[in-house]
Amino acid sequence: MNLFEKIAHTASFIKANSNTIPKAGIILGSGLGGLTDILKVESEISYDEIPNFPVSTVKGHSGKLLLGTIGDTSVVLMAGRFHYYEGYSMEAVTFPVRVMKALGAETLILSNAAGGTNPGFAIGDLMILKDHINQFPEHPLRGTNDERLGPRFPDMSEPYDHELINLAKKIARENNIVVRTGVYIGLQGPTFETPAEYKWLHAIGGDAVGMSTVPEVIVARHSGMKVFAMSVITDLGITDVPVKITHEEVLEAANAAAPKMACIVAGLISAL
Ligand code: HPA
Repeated sequence: MNLFEKIAHTASFIKANSNTIPKAGIILGSGLGGLTDILKVESEISYDEIPNFPVSTVKGHSGKLLLGTIGDTSVVLMAGRFHYYEGYSMEAVTFPVRVMKALGAETLILSNAAGGTNPGFAIGDLMILKDHINQFPEHPLRGTNDERLGPRFPDMSEPYDHELINLAKKIARENNIVVRTGVYIGLQGPTFETPAEYKWLHAIGGDAVGMSTVPEVIVARHSGMKVFAMSVITDLGITDVPVKITHEEVLEAANAAAPKMACIVAGLISAL
C-alpha cells in the first residue's frame, strides 16, 4: 500500500469504530495528558489496534486515540505522540496527522513540553508558538510527493494561524492566564541540550526547544490544516550555572501547567 492508501485504510477503520466526525485534531505532549479531562469521550481506540499506527513506547505517553466532544465541537485526540527519537520514521511520526485530516479535521492543535532558551522565561510559563525553526535531520515531506495529500513545495509563511493565536491570547486574558509568544526550535533529541547549544538556539532566534511538534505541523500545513501549538516551559537552558534536567522534572512542570493549557485549548476548540 502507498501512503495515500494506508491513510484511507486507517481512516475507514476508525470510522467503523466511532461515530465522531472530528472538526479538529489534538495532539498532547509529555505530562499534558490531563487535558483529556475536558473531553467527553465517545470512543477510545488503543494505538495497537489501529492498522498502520506505530505503538508508543515512552513513559508518560499513553497510547490511545480518543474521539468525542469538547463543548459542542467534535474532536479526535491523541493522548501521547510518536517521537522521531524513538526510532520511528518521519512518515510514522506524522501519519496520525494525515489520518486526522482524512477523518475530517480541518484544524490541528498541539501541545508540548519545551526547554526555555529565552532568558526572560520562567519554568511553568506557557508559550504560544508564532513560528518554528526546523532542526530535525530528516524532513517529513522528503520523497515522492502525492499531490492528493498536498503540494510539492508547501508555503510556510504562516505555519501557525494568526486568528487562532489572537483568540488564544484573548481567552488567556479573560482567564487571567499569562501567556508568552515565541519561536520553537524542533531538534531530534533524545539528549537535552548542552549549555552552548541552548545559547546557540537562542542566538538563532529560538525562545524554546523541544523534540516534537515541528514534523506534525509541517505535515498538517502540507495537508491544508490550520495549526495552533503551545509549549509549557519545563526547564531553562540559559542559566549562569548549568542545571541538570531530568525527564521526571519535565513531566512534573508540564503537569503543573496542564490546567491552564486545558482552559485555553477548551476555549479555542469551543470557538471552532
Ligand atoms: N530540550 C529539549 N526538549 C525538551 C526540553 C529541553 O530543554 N525540555 C522539554 N523537552
